[in-house]
Amino acid sequence: MASISLFEASVAFFCFIILCFFHFKKPHDGFLRNWPGVGMLPGLLMEFHQIYEFTVEILRNSNLTFQFKGPWFLGMDMLFTVDQANIHHIISSNFTNYIKGPEFKEVFDVLGDGILTADSELWKNLRKASKVMFSHQGFRRLSMSTTRRKLEEGLVPLFNRISEEGTVVDLQDVFVRFMFDTTLVTVTGSSDPRSLSIEMPEVGEFAKALNDVGEAIMYRHVKPMFLWKLQRWFGFGQEKKLSKANDTLNRMCTVYINKERGDKITRCYQ
Ligand SMILES: *[C@@H]1O[C@H](CO)[C@@H](O)[C@H](O)[C@H]1NC(C)=O
Ligand SMILES: *[C@@H]1O[C@H](CO)[C@@H](O)[C@H](O)[C@H]1NC(C)=O
Ligand SMILES: *[C@@H]1O[C@H](CO)[C@@H](O)[C@H](O)[C@H]1NC(C)=O
Repeated sequence: MASISLFEASVAFFCFIILCFFHFKKPHDGFLRNWPGVGMLPGLLMEFHQIYEFTVEILRNSNLTFQFKGPWFLGMDMLFTVDQANIHHIISSNFTNYIKGPEFKEVFDVLGDGILTADSELWKNLRKASKVMFSHQGFRRLSMSTTRRKLEEGLVPLFNRISEEGTVVDLQDVFVRFMFDTTLVTVTGSSDPRSLSIEMPEVGEFAKALNDVGEAIMYRHVKPMFLWKLQRWFGFGQEKKLSKANDTLNRMCTVYINKERGDKITRCYQ
């Protein structure tokens, strides 16, 4: 009797494994299955290599807002939304209901005490300061002229070349470069790094560091916290990359800040 139950149990277990295998092998259908215990994490990890396409599909199938269930014991539940009304509610009209908290700050630690990780009073002060900067006439003019120049001298010639030659281009890469060049010029006042140009050069270490930071932070969202902290402690994988990128960002920012200070001092003495 006991041996039959064991046999039955094995068959059931075997069927379960086969089922899992076929479920995972099947190309995704834009939904994430919620497994008992582990939640939707297995499905998400299976699609992680094409996370952007996958998220777009999921959000499209769930009316722009999607609730992700992580393993019950890890506290990884997340809400994804691209619904304008929700975004406005969360980051503007009802912002005070959404405290980011210490865990958020830890995940985004590389951003330091900036506005993205700040809460309450500090956030209010930073917001006031950035509002002053963004609404400053000089800043607007610089932003406008930089963007226009980048369009005329970077994006349009590149698109012309691509359409003439009928080649394929990674649009995401193109727009990331566009953002990088225009942001660097408007924020630091330095000259155009020309990462977006007709030659599409290898991106510089600053742009690469920013990409690495973004990637590492994304990984932190799908890994249990103890795991990435362990990786950081031992300094391997994404966390090693992040730490290197952090050093690069700090070094480059120091250069830009010192240069700006130097220029100011020179201007004062003239
Ligand atoms: C989708 O969401 C919007 C609000 O964000 C709501 O008005 C609409 O009824 C929803 N549609 C469906 C099919 O659930
Ligand atoms: C959101 O904010 C508005 C006004 O700012 C308020 O009337 C409303 O009750 C808030 N909603 C929630 C869910 O807190
Ligand atoms: C980044 O570097 C700064 C300065 O060296 C350091 O204080 C900070 O802890 C580092 N952050 C990360 C996430 O490595």
